Amino acid sequence: MALLCRLASRGRSRTKLIAALGCLASRQKHTLPDLPYDYGALEPHINAEIMQLHHSKHHATYVNNLNVAEEKYKEALAKGDVTAQVSLQPALKFNGGGHINHTIFWTNLSANGGGEPQGELMEAIKRDFGSFGKFKEKLTAVSVGVQGSGWGWLGFSQDQGRLQVTACYNQDPLQGTTGLIPLLGIDVWEHAYYLQYKNVRPDYLKAVWNVINWENVSARYTACKK
Ligand SMILES: [Fe+2]
Repeated sequence: MALLCRLASRGRSRTKLIAALGCLASRQKHTLPDLPYDYGALEPHINAEIMQLHHSKHHATYVNNLNVAEEKYKEALAKGDVTAQVSLQPALKFNGGGHINHTIFWTNLSANGGGEPQGELMEAIKRDFGSFGKFKEKLTAVSVGVQGSGWGWLGFSQDQGRLQVTACYNQDPLQGTTGLIPLLGIDVWEHAYYLQYKNVRPDYLKAVWNVINWENVSARYTACKK
């Protein structure tokens, strides 16, 4: 990008530059990832209507708005407009976080999920929380306790070499906000459960444990320890 900007300032090939920037922009556009299962696959724990709206409307909106914000940011960078760059930060955080969080969330769930993790993830959970039951209790309490909209997370601290449970508000992404590497995220925005569980978030939390994809969570743990 820096090279392209230098070329532009020399005014040698403005047309080619615009084409190149257009190419760069289209190449870097974010897209809505496909779900690795059907919308109805997680029933009866999360119904098809919720999954369809959540994925095809809510997540899709974060992706679209992230692309719009990035386009505006590129223009602001090209103009050297620092004020515009700063004013775009909340939109980048909200929509970028929404895209990151939901992309993780879909893979954290499975029709064949539930039960307990195995192997080194289970050992780490016992080491850092005492038992799987205590960990489950803690992540449930943190998720139920989010005031307004947000996420409950199991993350890994590379500095401390330990698992941690925490909550993030709105769409604040775990790693970008706390430095923890995300392993398991539980979406507690009302759009994730209201059509089925109404205002009873604890019932949704109780149900979601039946569809947690521990193979995916374990793979994330193994990858971040390397
Ligand atoms: Fe969501």
